[in-house]
Amino acid sequence: MQIVRTPGSARAIARTLPRPVGFVPTMGALHAGHLALVERARRENVSVAASIFVNPMQFGPSEDYDKYPRAFERDCELLAAHGVDLLYAPAVERMYPPHFSAAIDVGALGTSFEGARRPGHFAGVATVVAKLLHALEPTSLYLGQKDAQQTAVLRAMVRDLDMATNVVVAPTVREADGLALSSRNVYLNAEERSAAASIYEAMRAVAAAVEAGETDPRRALAAGRKLLMEPLRWDYLALVDPFTFVEADPVRRPCIVLAAANAGAVRLLDNLPLPLPGGVDPLVTPPHELPRSARTRIS
Ligand code: PAJ
Repeated sequence: MQIVRTPGSARAIARTLPRPVGFVPTMGALHAGHLALVERARRENVSVAASIFVNPMQFGPSEDYDKYPRAFERDCELLAAHGVDLLYAPAVERMYPPHFSAAIDVGALGTSFEGARRPGHFAGVATVVAKLLHALEPTSLYLGQKDAQQTAVLRAMVRDLDMATNVVVAPTVREADGLALSSRNVYLNAEERSAAASIYEAMRAVAAAVEAGETDPRRALAAGRKLLMEPLRWDYLALVDPFTFVEADPVRRPCIVLAAANAGAVRLLDNLPLPLPGGVDPLVTPPHELPRSARTRIS
């Protein structure tokens, strides 16, 4: 595995990799969710590139940028063992030199839900991923469904700015009790950790209510809202379109159950895509490619 530190060397080396090239961007502190993306990229491409960069532009002033977990040596070993050919790990000063001022504005998609709680977060995500894509020029970009709004923002960016990459979205990897893996789970104390599995239970209850024919989002969500265990508190639990993040009333597919709960100072994000008729994969199918039956109201 070659490790490169600057945009210039990243581009020079990436251009020598046999194509297709799959690319997995990360902020490090790798867990099995990240590694599942790497494995998928490994299976589907001739070459694999990954990045590790804790991106200051996507953290708010009161957020955990300084104490975000960092484990560079261990991450390098894991990536090399999973067959990554090229690791791009730039220094902050090379990504954001003095006078850096450009940013990608992703519009309304970036201002609801997480975007409303974290102003500027999705501009930071879109900008850094655009820079990484320009440096590495991958055939495909591998993203986790875990961060559903980030995935929607990056899909929109790639589509709207005619970027020459495919977006591949992989399912969320969970602990045995249902908690989605996250680098931030290490911040949870024992009580919060055991309560955290109730987020998944709550989302499943909402999905089950919709599956059973409930079309009123308030009633479907009420089935899950009550299941969250103390000391966790809901920030939001909603049924949204996975591409626009608009809440549909009545419930309409494609649709995901979107959840954010606070455990002390830790935010836990999760979501559950509702299955689509005819076995259509809800993670890969943009709305214009959905069969008519999947676009219509649930009866
Ligand atoms: P990070 O949180 O490190 O996540 C890197 C990738 O791993 C993202 O695509 C994320 O959705 C995916 N991922 C995280 N947890 C997962 C899980 N439990 N199952 C499956 N995939 C999971 O997301 C970021 O970094 C950054 O915002 C980044 C895109 C790198 C831009 O800075």
